[in-house]
Amino acid sequence: MDKLLLERLTAQYGDAFYLLDTRRFRANFSELKRAFSEIYENFGIAYSYKTNYTPKLCKAVNDMGGYAEVVSDMEAEIALRVGVDPGKIIWNGPYKNYAKVEELLLRGATVNLDSAYEIGKMREIAARHPKAVLNVGIRVNFDIGDGVVSRFGFDVASEDFRAALRLVKETDNLHLIGIQCHFATRRLETWRPRAEKMLALLDGLGLVPEHIDLGGGLFGKMADSLKAQFDSYIPTYEEYARAVAPVFAEHYGKRAEKPLLLIEPGSALVGDCMKFASRVIGIKEVRGKPIATLLGSVYNINPTLNKKNPPLELYAMGGEQREYADLDFGGFTCIESDYLYRHYSGKLAQGDIVVFGNVGSYSVVLKPPFILPNFPVIELTDGGAEVVKSGETFDDLFRTFVF
Ligand SMILES: Cc1ncc(COP(=O)(O)O)c(C=O)c1O
Repeated sequence: MDKLLLERLTAQYGDAFYLLDTRRFRANFSELKRAFSEIYENFGIAYSYKTNYTPKLCKAVNDMGGYAEVVSDMEAEIALRVGVDPGKIIWNGPYKNYAKVEELLLRGATVNLDSAYEIGKMREIAARHPKAVLNVGIRVNFDIGDGVVSRFGFDVASEDFRAALRLVKETDNLHLIGIQCHFATRRLETWRPRAEKMLALLDGLGLVPEHIDLGGGLFGKMADSLKAQFDSYIPTYEEYARAVAPVFAEHYGKRAEKPLLLIEPGSALVGDCMKFASRVIGIKEVRGKPIATLLGSVYNINPTLNKKNPPLELYAMGGEQREYADLDFGGFTCIESDYLYRHYSGKLAQGDIVVFGNVGSYSVVLKPPFILPNFPVIELTDGGAEVVKSGETFDDLFRTFVF
């Protein structure tokens, strides 16, 4: 990124846009895949679409042999449209549109049951299609000492879990293809217990399903300035792999059946694959506090509002810079707390461009249509730039309202 390139891009796409790096995304995917499969060969990645469902990324995952982890009919549709074989779609989540679930099951997708209300629905679907074999998984919920009582999946000690197991056992055309869990904490020390507890559960039940899916919840790559803002160590892909894959290798190494170990990373693959560029609209001082307003908002880059300062690069675009201390970058919305970055010290001028890094996960997919439609997503190519998502227009946002 340099000033000339930014001038060219802003002239063409406006004063705020996302920059996607699909090459880096592909490299992350390959590196993560290698780290695990070097230790336990039967390993696969199911990319968590919700994190960033930009179709170009979903297609890249499919091209590289990954699975699609979806949590809505909307995301299932994205998978189908980018050409994913339904057999490589894994549908999770607490709510599922069962009309679409039925269609996907009949096409070979895996549907992971999350709660007791789904048992009856699955039984009905199975009864309607006695000749079709339907791939069902069960999401399980157990304690890994992370201090969270998750609301997702079946408590493994519950009667509901036993009922889900009975359903798949007693229904001839329901095939228990996999067991899945997901824990949101990304701390390394929670990964070995996920694997060990999952295998102990399966041994206790006498099951060796085709898939054992440990979910997402891995940290991705990030600049040291961002790492320093977390209260836990940021592991590498290899460290996650070394926590989990040997447990599988030892457990299934000498057995004939080697289940597919799946993980469902989102942030770990895509976090560092997007940047957000945003023009400094103006700079003011309020009772001695310097504040710059950007054509951008915290809702563009960090709608989960986690209060962390993303990595920042500043590009002087020709205005006369001044030296500032403890300046905050505020957003275009009218929300008082809308700050993209706090406590900047250094040079700055109106018209400069700030580029924030590590904005790939839970950004474009969570941006609300508040105050301004969202900005375009651009990918730099060898010869120029490609539009991955156009800037949203008035009609994109208002066609569903009745005027
Ligand atoms: C079931 C499931 N799998 C995968 C993910 C992706 O998580 P992460 O982005 O932390 O890897 C999530 C996130 O909420 C999830 O709920």
